[in-house]
Amino acid sequence: MHIEDNVSLKPYNTFGIEVTADRFLRVTDMAILQEALNSFSPKDFFLLSGGSNVLFTSPFSGLVLYLDVKGRTIISESENAVSVRAMCGENWHDLVLWSIDMGFGGIENLALIPGKAGTAPVQNIGAYGVELKDVLLGLEAVEISTGKIRYFSNAECNFGYRDSIFKQAEKGNYVIWSIDLALSKTSHQIKTEYGDIQRELKQEGITRAEPYDVARAVIHIRQSKLPDPKKIGNSGSFFKNPIIPLTQFQHLKNTYPDLPGYPQTEEQIKVPAGWLIEKLGYKGCRRGDAGVHEKQALVLVNYGKATGMEILELAREIQEGVRTCFGILIEPEVNIR
Ligand code: EPU
Repeated sequence: MHIEDNVSLKPYNTFGIEVTADRFLRVTDMAILQEALNSFSPKDFFLLSGGSNVLFTSPFSGLVLYLDVKGRTIISESENAVSVRAMCGENWHDLVLWSIDMGFGGIENLALIPGKAGTAPVQNIGAYGVELKDVLLGLEAVEISTGKIRYFSNAECNFGYRDSIFKQAEKGNYVIWSIDLALSKTSHQIKTEYGDIQRELKQEGITRAEPYDVARAVIHIRQSKLPDPKKIGNSGSFFKNPIIPLTQFQHLKNTYPDLPGYPQTEEQIKVPAGWLIEKLGYKGCRRGDAGVHEKQALVLVNYGKATGMEILELAREIQEGVRTCFGILIEPEVNIR
């Protein structure tokens, strides 16, 4: 077990926030993880993986466990379907590209989502009508307090919109070690109902889309709207889209006839936080190096040297503005640390 001291976390968070960790351990296999779990108290460490869903607001005084376990394998296969296991440190987008190269379908709509395989279930990543829960068979996790390995079935993960048991009852209790995905080899369930995707495919003259066509469309849409974390620090959508009562929505529609909404149940409707934020005039705003992306108001950005606190202050101001103007509480999707 090789622990490094005083390590900058800037390369390990997609917001590009400059903070240090007192101690840092790269976990590349189960033996290293078990040794770390035996040697430290859970309250002293922080699990870091893709760093694509965290905003660091202060230096970290404990031990960062950086999960860097690689590997993807086919665990079972039939004529029409395949089960794939990806280890937690696999880059999510590389996994999507690999699965498309192999001719597998199921995760093409999730192309270019930043982060790693092991963190994808925590917030049930989703885009363009597909969520991880639609393809996850189950996952293997290590209980932090005992070091025991436990398998969680899809149902046991309690998935919801950007939500799972790992953000709720079992928050901080497990290291997700590997995930198993059920993918198709034939008769792919292509999901193209999102307007943006339909427009892209039409432009390319594609009528019967294959998984790689959808992935290409998604990559093109995301690249045109969302900032590349390698160029401008960001963490994707900073807030979740709020789900509000239909009665409140109808009331707001009187004042804002163009407010979009996506019904969830008979009584509840999801509204795009990006729309609310744009309406308040925040799209493209900049406070020093902290800002709101000019093409997607749901994405907060770090133009270079913003601190986590500066980004958090901007987020709070936006949250307060949305609450005052629309009476809606928008909650961060990103973990604030
Ligand atoms: N909109 C605006 N202004 C903006 C942004 C959005 O008016 O600046 C409105 C538009 O009406 C647009 C609608 O919001 O039609 C929806 O926008 P978009 O399709 O860009 O999606 P989103 O709701 O902003 C969600 C996810 C994204 C995911 C996209 C596509 C959440 C919190 N975000 O964003 O996920 O890629 O849908 O499916 O659910 C992420 O979670 O990090 C993420 C990027």
